[in-house]
Amino acid sequence: MRVGILTGGGDCPGLNAVIRAAVRKGEHTYGDDFVGFRDGWKGVLEGLTMPLDVEACRGILPRGGTILGSSRTNPFKIDGGPARCLATLESLGIDALIAIGGEDTLGVANKLGDEGARVVGVPKTIDNDLSATEVTFGFNTAVQICVDAIDRLHTTAESHDRVIVCEVMGRHAGWIAVHAGIAGGAAAVLVPEVPFDIDEICANLVLRHSRGHFASVVVVAEGATPKAGTLVTASGEVDAFGHARLGGIGNLLATEVERRTGFETRATILGHVQRGGTPTAFDRVLATRFGVAAIDCVHDGAFGHMVALQSTHIVRVPLGAAVAELKTVDPGLLEVAELFHF
Ligand code: F6P
Repeated sequence: MRVGILTGGGDCPGLNAVIRAAVRKGEHTYGDDFVGFRDGWKGVLEGLTMPLDVEACRGILPRGGTILGSSRTNPFKIDGGPARCLATLESLGIDALIAIGGEDTLGVANKLGDEGARVVGVPKTIDNDLSATEVTFGFNTAVQICVDAIDRLHTTAESHDRVIVCEVMGRHAGWIAVHAGIAGGAAAVLVPEVPFDIDEICANLVLRHSRGHFASVVVVAEGATPKAGTLVTASGEVDAFGHARLGGIGNLLATEVERRTGFETRATILGHVQRGGTPTAFDRVLATRFGVAAIDCVHDGAFGHMVALQSTHIVRVPLGAAVAELKTVDPGLLEVAELFHF
Protein backbone atom coordinates (compact mmCIF):
# COMPACT_ATOMS: atom_id res chain seq x y z
CA MET A 1 0.00 0.00 0.00
CA ARG A 2 0.99 3.62 -0.38
CA VAL A 3 0.65 5.20 3.05
CA GLY A 4 0.81 8.90 3.94
CA ILE A 5 1.90 10.09 7.39
CA LEU A 6 1.44 13.52 8.94
CA THR A 7 2.07 15.10 12.33
CA GLY A 8 -0.22 18.00 13.32
CA GLY A 9 -0.67 20.46 16.18
CA GLY A 10 1.92 21.29 18.81
CA ASP A 11 4.95 19.02 18.48
CA CYS A 12 5.74 16.53 21.19
CA PRO A 13 8.63 14.21 22.13
CA GLY A 14 8.01 10.77 20.61
CA LEU A 15 6.55 11.82 17.24
CA ASN A 16 9.63 10.59 15.40
CA ALA A 17 9.45 7.27 17.22
CA VAL A 18 5.89 6.73 15.90
CA ILE A 19 6.93 7.59 12.34
CA ARG A 20 9.97 5.29 12.53
CA ALA A 21 7.93 2.38 13.89
CA ALA A 22 5.12 2.66 11.33
CA VAL A 23 7.59 2.92 8.46
CA ARG A 24 9.73 0.05 9.73
CA LYS A 25 6.84 -2.38 10.10
CA GLY A 26 5.13 -1.10 6.95
CA GLU A 27 8.18 -1.57 4.76
CA HIS A 28 9.50 -4.80 6.24
CA THR A 29 6.30 -6.67 7.01
CA TYR A 30 3.84 -5.35 4.44
CA GLY A 31 6.05 -4.02 1.63
CA ASP A 32 4.46 -0.54 1.88
CA ASP A 33 5.63 2.72 0.32
CA PHE A 34 5.38 5.89 2.40
CA VAL A 35 4.82 9.56 1.66
CA GLY A 36 5.61 12.12 4.36
CA PHE A 37 3.22 15.08 4.41
CA ARG A 38 4.93 18.27 5.57
CA ASP A 39 3.52 20.46 8.34
CA GLY A 40 0.38 18.58 9.32
CA TRP A 41 -2.82 19.14 7.35
CA LYS A 42 -1.12 22.01 5.49
CA GLY A 43 0.91 19.38 3.64
CA VAL A 44 -2.20 17.49 2.56
CA LEU A 45 -4.00 20.70 1.63
CA GLU A 46 -1.12 22.01 -0.47
CA GLY A 47 0.45 18.73 -1.59
CA LEU A 48 3.70 19.35 0.32
CA THR A 49 5.48 16.03 0.67
CA MET A 50 8.86 14.54 1.49
CA PRO A 51 10.34 11.10 0.87
CA LEU A 52 9.85 8.72 3.77
CA ASP A 53 11.40 5.28 4.13
CA VAL A 54 13.43 3.25 6.60
CA GLU A 55 16.63 5.07 5.54
CA ALA A 56 15.04 8.49 6.18
CA CYS A 57 14.12 7.32 9.70
CA ARG A 58 17.62 6.29 10.78
CA GLY A 59 18.70 7.96 14.01
CA ILE A 60 15.39 9.69 14.74
CA LEU A 61 14.23 7.54 17.69
CA PRO A 62 15.78 9.78 20.38
CA ARG A 63 15.14 13.04 18.53
CA GLY A 64 12.47 15.44 19.79
CA GLY A 65 10.22 17.35 17.39
CA THR A 66 9.08 15.81 14.13
CA ILE A 67 11.02 15.25 10.93
CA LEU A 68 7.77 15.97 9.04
CA GLY A 69 7.20 19.37 10.59
CA SER A 70 3.89 20.41 12.11
CA SER A 71 1.29 23.17 11.95
CA ARG A 72 -2.12 24.05 13.32
CA THR A 73 -3.70 24.35 9.84
CA ASN A 74 -7.37 23.44 9.86
CA PRO A 75 -8.61 22.51 6.35
CA PHE A 76 -12.19 22.85 7.52
CA LYS A 77 -11.59 26.58 8.10
CA ILE A 78 -10.44 27.06 4.51
CA ASP A 79 -12.80 27.41 1.55
CA GLY A 80 -12.77 24.11 -0.33
CA GLY A 81 -10.17 22.78 2.13
CA PRO A 82 -11.56 19.26 2.64
CA ALA A 83 -12.03 18.75 -1.11
CA ARG A 84 -8.46 19.89 -1.76
CA CYS A 85 -7.18 17.40 0.84
CA LEU A 86 -9.11 14.55 -0.79
CA ALA A 87 -7.82 15.59 -4.21
CA THR A 88 -4.20 15.53 -2.98
CA LEU A 89 -4.64 12.04 -1.55
CA GLU A 90 -6.20 10.88 -4.81
CA SER A 91 -3.57 12.44 -7.06
CA LEU A 92 -0.68 10.99 -5.05
CA GLY A 93 -2.30 7.56 -5.01
CA ILE A 94 -2.45 7.43 -1.21
CA ASP A 95 -4.29 4.30 -0.07
CA ALA A 96 -4.31 5.25 3.61
CA LEU A 97 -3.24 8.12 5.84
CA ILE A 98 -1.84 7.94 9.37
CA ALA A 99 -2.57 11.19 11.22
CA ILE A 100 -0.57 11.69 14.40
CA GLY A 101 -1.99 14.47 16.53
CA GLY A 102 -4.16 15.72 19.35
CA GLU A 103 -7.81 16.62 19.57
CA ASP A 104 -7.66 19.10 16.65
CA THR A 105 -5.63 17.04 14.17
CA LEU A 106 -7.65 13.92 14.93
CA GLY A 107 -10.89 15.92 14.75
CA VAL A 108 -9.96 16.82 11.15
CA ALA A 109 -9.05 13.16 10.51
CA ASN A 110 -12.46 12.10 11.75
CA LYS A 111 -14.34 14.61 9.59
CA LEU A 112 -12.24 13.85 6.52
CA GLY A 113 -12.94 10.16 7.15
CA ASP A 114 -16.66 10.96 6.93
CA GLU A 115 -15.95 12.45 3.50
CA GLY A 116 -14.22 9.31 2.27
CA ALA A 117 -10.56 9.53 3.36
CA ARG A 118 -9.09 6.31 4.76
CA VAL A 119 -7.48 7.58 7.95
CA VAL A 120 -6.03 6.01 11.08
CA GLY A 121 -5.25 8.19 14.11
CA VAL A 122 -2.41 8.14 16.62
CA PRO A 123 -2.92 10.21 19.80
CA LYS A 124 -0.17 12.64 20.75
CA THR A 125 -0.01 15.56 23.12
CA ILE A 126 2.06 16.54 26.10
CA ASP A 127 -1.24 17.67 27.67
CA ASN A 128 -2.55 14.09 28.11
CA ASP A 129 -6.08 15.43 27.63
CA LEU A 130 -7.38 12.91 25.07
CA SER A 131 -10.09 10.61 26.28
CA ALA A 132 -10.07 6.98 25.13
CA THR A 133 -6.37 6.58 25.82
CA GLU A 134 -5.01 6.35 29.34
CA VAL A 135 -1.95 8.28 28.38
CA THR A 136 -0.48 10.03 25.37
CA PHE A 137 3.22 9.85 24.52
CA GLY A 138 5.06 13.11 25.23
CA PHE A 139 3.29 13.57 28.55
CA ASN A 140 5.82 11.57 30.54
CA THR A 141 8.69 13.55 29.01
CA ALA A 142 7.01 16.90 29.68
CA VAL A 143 6.33 15.98 33.31
CA GLN A 144 9.95 14.91 33.79
CA ILE A 145 11.19 18.21 32.36
CA CYS A 146 8.91 20.08 34.78
CA VAL A 147 10.06 18.02 37.75
CA ASP A 148 13.72 18.63 36.90
CA ALA A 149 12.94 22.35 36.76
CA ILE A 150 10.96 22.31 40.04
CA ASP A 151 13.82 20.52 41.82
CA ARG A 152 16.12 23.32 40.67
CA LEU A 153 13.63 26.01 41.64
CA HIS A 154 13.42 24.53 45.15
CA THR A 155 17.13 24.99 45.86
CA THR A 156 17.24 28.59 44.70
CA ALA A 157 13.95 29.36 46.49
CA GLU A 158 15.44 27.94 49.71
CA SER A 159 18.61 29.99 49.39
CA HIS A 160 16.60 33.20 49.14
CA ASP A 161 13.54 32.40 51.29
CA ARG A 162 11.29 32.95 48.30
CA VAL A 163 8.07 31.72 46.83
CA ILE A 164 8.47 30.66 43.21
CA VAL A 165 5.45 30.27 40.99
CA CYS A 166 6.15 27.76 38.20
CA GLU A 167 3.76 27.90 35.24
CA VAL A 168 3.41 24.73 33.19
CA MET A 169 1.50 23.88 29.98
CA GLY A 170 -1.49 21.60 29.58
CA ARG A 171 -4.11 23.79 27.98
CA HIS A 172 -7.48 23.22 29.70
CA ALA A 173 -6.40 20.14 31.65
CA GLY A 174 -4.16 20.04 34.68
CA TRP A 175 -2.42 16.71 34.07
CA ILE A 176 1.07 18.13 33.71
CA ALA A 177 0.59 20.43 36.70
CA VAL A 178 -0.72 17.80 39.07
CA HIS A 179 1.86 15.15 38.13
CA ALA A 180 4.74 17.64 38.23
CA GLY A 181 3.41 19.14 41.47
CA ILE A 182 3.16 15.79 43.25
CA ALA A 183 6.55 14.57 41.96
CA GLY A 184 8.21 17.93 42.64
CA GLY A 185 6.78 18.46 46.13
CA ALA A 186 4.84 21.63 45.29
CA ALA A 187 3.29 23.69 48.09
CA ALA A 188 0.26 24.32 45.86
CA VAL A 189 -0.98 22.94 42.54
CA LEU A 190 -3.49 25.01 40.60
CA VAL A 191 -5.35 23.40 37.71
CA PRO A 192 -8.00 24.51 35.21
CA GLU A 193 -10.47 21.96 36.58
CA VAL A 194 -10.82 23.85 39.89
CA PRO A 195 -10.87 27.67 39.88
CA PHE A 196 -8.37 28.83 42.48
CA ASP A 197 -8.95 31.05 45.47
CA ILE A 198 -6.06 33.50 45.85
CA ASP A 199 -6.93 34.17 49.52
CA GLU A 200 -6.77 30.47 50.32
CA ILE A 201 -3.44 30.05 48.52
CA CYS A 202 -1.92 32.98 50.39
CA ALA A 203 -3.30 31.78 53.75
CA ASN A 204 -1.75 28.33 53.15
CA LEU A 205 1.61 29.87 52.26
CA VAL A 206 1.56 32.04 55.39
CA LEU A 207 0.69 28.97 57.51
CA ARG A 208 3.43 26.94 55.86
CA HIS A 209 6.02 29.65 56.43
CA SER A 210 4.88 30.14 60.05
CA ARG A 211 5.73 26.45 60.54
CA GLY A 212 9.32 27.03 59.55
CA HIS A 213 9.30 26.61 55.77
CA PHE A 214 10.69 29.71 54.15
CA ALA A 215 10.55 28.58 50.58
CA SER A 216 7.63 27.33 48.53
CA VAL A 217 7.10 26.31 44.93
CA VAL A 218 3.59 26.86 43.57
CA VAL A 219 2.79 25.00 40.34
CA VAL A 220 0.15 26.62 38.17
CA ALA A 221 -1.25 25.20 34.94
CA GLU A 222 -1.38 27.76 32.14
CA GLY A 223 -5.15 27.22 31.88
CA ALA A 224 -5.87 27.71 35.60
CA THR A 225 -8.35 30.47 36.34
CA PRO A 226 -9.25 32.34 39.52
CA LYS A 227 -12.66 32.01 41.13
CA ALA A 228 -15.09 34.37 39.45
CA GLY A 229 -14.63 38.00 40.43
CA THR A 230 -11.43 37.49 42.46
CA LEU A 231 -8.67 38.46 39.99
CA VAL A 232 -8.65 40.09 36.56
CA THR A 233 -6.91 37.98 33.89
CA ALA A 234 -5.95 38.87 30.31
CA SER A 235 -7.50 37.11 27.30
CA GLY A 236 -5.31 36.21 24.31
CA GLU A 237 -5.43 35.45 20.57
CA VAL A 238 -7.04 32.30 19.16
CA ASP A 239 -5.69 29.78 16.62
CA ALA A 240 -7.37 28.17 13.56
CA PHE A 241 -9.17 25.72 15.85
CA GLY A 242 -10.50 28.55 18.05
CA HIS A 243 -8.19 27.81 20.99
CA ALA A 244 -6.93 30.75 23.06
CA ARG A 245 -3.18 31.13 23.31
CA LEU A 246 -2.60 30.56 27.00
CA GLY A 247 0.23 31.66 29.26
CA GLY A 248 0.88 34.44 31.71
CA ILE A 249 -1.16 33.38 34.75
CA GLY A 250 2.12 32.64 36.58
CA ASN A 251 3.22 36.30 36.47
CA LEU A 252 -0.14 37.53 37.69
CA LEU A 253 -0.14 35.01 40.52
CA ALA A 254 3.42 35.85 41.62
CA THR A 255 2.56 39.56 41.82
CA GLU A 256 -0.57 38.87 43.86
CA VAL A 257 1.12 36.42 46.23
CA GLU A 258 3.91 38.90 46.95
CA ARG A 259 1.46 41.78 47.40
CA ARG A 260 -0.79 39.83 49.76
CA THR A 261 1.77 37.89 51.83
CA GLY A 262 4.83 40.11 51.71
CA PHE A 263 6.94 37.06 50.74
CA GLU A 264 9.41 37.78 47.97
CA THR A 265 7.99 35.92 44.97
CA ARG A 266 9.26 35.13 41.48
CA ALA A 267 7.63 33.50 38.46
CA THR A 268 9.13 30.95 36.07
CA ILE A 269 7.19 30.10 32.91
CA LEU A 270 8.52 26.81 31.54
CA GLY A 271 6.82 27.23 28.17
CA HIS A 272 8.06 25.32 25.15
CA VAL A 273 11.03 23.82 26.95
CA GLN A 274 8.43 21.23 28.07
CA ARG A 275 7.90 20.11 24.47
CA GLY A 276 11.48 20.08 23.30
CA GLY A 277 14.27 17.55 23.36
CA THR A 278 14.62 13.84 23.67
CA PRO A 279 11.69 11.62 24.75
CA THR A 280 11.91 9.51 27.89
CA ALA A 281 12.21 5.73 27.53
CA PHE A 282 8.53 5.39 28.48
CA ASP A 283 7.46 7.71 25.67
CA ARG A 284 9.75 6.02 23.13
CA VAL A 285 8.23 2.64 23.93
CA LEU A 286 4.62 3.90 23.87
CA ALA A 287 5.22 5.83 20.63
CA THR A 288 6.82 2.77 19.03
CA ARG A 289 3.90 0.56 20.05
CA PHE A 290 1.44 3.13 18.65
CA GLY A 291 3.35 3.33 15.35
CA VAL A 292 3.33 -0.44 14.92
CA ALA A 293 -0.36 -0.64 15.87
CA ALA A 294 -1.27 2.15 13.43
CA ILE A 295 0.22 0.40 10.40
CA ASP A 296 -1.50 -2.82 11.50
CA CYS A 297 -4.79 -0.88 11.57
CA VAL A 298 -4.16 0.26 8.01
CA HIS A 299 -3.70 -3.32 6.83
CA ASP A 300 -6.72 -4.54 8.77
CA GLY A 301 -8.81 -1.81 7.12
CA ALA A 302 -9.59 -0.31 10.54
CA PHE A 303 -10.09 3.19 9.13
CA GLY A 304 -11.76 5.84 11.24
CA HIS A 305 -10.03 4.41 14.29
CA MET A 306 -7.36 5.64 16.66
CA VAL A 307 -4.87 3.47 18.50
CA ALA A 308 -4.96 3.90 22.27
CA LEU A 309 -3.50 2.57 25.49
CA GLN A 310 -5.94 0.90 27.86
CA SER A 311 -4.90 -1.24 30.83
CA THR A 312 -1.39 -1.59 29.35
CA HIS A 313 -2.79 -2.94 26.04
CA ILE A 314 -2.89 -1.18 22.70
CA VAL A 315 -6.49 -1.08 21.47
CA ARG A 316 -8.46 0.55 18.65
CA VAL A 317 -11.17 3.11 19.37
CA PRO A 318 -13.43 4.99 16.94
CA LEU A 319 -11.93 8.41 16.14
CA GLY A 320 -15.25 10.11 16.88
CA ALA A 321 -15.29 8.78 20.44
CA ALA A 322 -11.64 9.64 20.93
CA VAL A 323 -12.10 13.34 20.20
CA ALA A 324 -15.58 13.77 21.65
CA GLU A 325 -14.57 14.76 25.15
CA LEU A 326 -11.64 16.39 26.92
CA LYS A 327 -10.02 14.16 29.54
CA THR A 328 -9.68 16.21 32.69
CA VAL A 329 -7.79 15.46 35.87
CA ASP A 330 -9.06 12.78 38.20
CA PRO A 331 -10.23 14.50 41.41
CA GLY A 332 -8.56 11.74 43.46
CA LEU A 333 -5.19 12.83 42.11
CA LEU A 334 -5.89 16.42 43.14
CA GLU A 335 -6.67 15.22 46.66
CA VAL A 336 -3.25 13.56 46.80
CA ALA A 337 -1.58 16.81 45.73
CA GLU A 338 -3.59 18.79 48.31
CA LEU A 339 -2.24 16.70 51.19
CA PHE A 340 1.08 18.48 50.68
CA HIS A 341 -0.25 22.00 50.29
CA PHE A 342 0.89 23.38 53.63
O1 F6P B 1 -1.20 21.29 23.16
C1 F6P B 1 0.14 21.35 23.48
C2 F6P B 1 0.53 22.72 23.92
O2 F6P B 1 1.90 22.70 24.24
C3 F6P B 1 -0.30 23.30 25.06
O3 F6P B 1 0.10 22.79 26.31
C4 F6P B 1 -0.05 24.77 24.88
O4 F6P B 1 -1.14 25.54 25.37
C5 F6P B 1 0.02 24.91 23.40
O5 F6P B 1 0.37 23.66 22.88
C6 F6P B 1 1.02 25.94 22.94
O6 F6P B 1 0.90 26.09 21.57
P1 F6P B 1 1.93 26.85 20.63
O7 F6P B 1 3.12 25.97 20.43
O8 F6P B 1 1.18 27.08 19.38
O9 F6P B 1 2.33 28.11 21.35
